[in-house]
Amino acid sequence: MDKNDFILVAESVTKDFMGLRAIDNLDFAVKRSSIHGLIGPNGAGKTTFFNLVTGLLPVTVGKVYFDSEEVTNLKSHVRAGMGMSRTFQEGGPTRTWLNSHR
Ligand SMILES: Nc1ncnc2c1ncn2[C@@H]1O[C@H](COP(=O)(O)OP(=O)(O)OP(=O)(O)O)[C@@H](O)[C@H]1O
Ligand SMILES: [Mg+2]
Repeated sequence: MDKNDFILVAESVTKDFMGLRAIDNLDFAVKRSSIHGLIGPNGAGKTTFFNLVTGLLPVTVGKVYFDSEEVTNLKSHVRAGMGMSRTFQEGGPTRTWLNSHR
């Protein structure tokens, strides 16, 4: 696998919360100029994965690459400066895109 073909690569990523292994040796890659969805049952580790990728949580083991650069230990704001951003789930039924972005 050539990392240059991918905008995002997670390599052998594991995340432990104390004794609970939330993510176990995950390999995940997103090709450039493509759109991916991540699905799984409650507690599967989706949110944890996004938190690892964006730097909100530290990985226990493994590496994360964005745009061919290793970002595993970079702060969120540095990753944002490289072009990585995320949004969060809405807080309630009355929130709309418009009033969330005023
Ligand atoms: N900060 C934390 N401390 C301890 N355990 C956690 C923490 N965050 C997540 N977990 C555990 O890690 C596992 C994965 O949780 P996560 O929230 O990533 O799943 P999810 O796929 O996003 O679930 P959902 O579909 O409900 O949003 C669960 O067992 C959860 O209880
Ligand atoms: Mg979640």
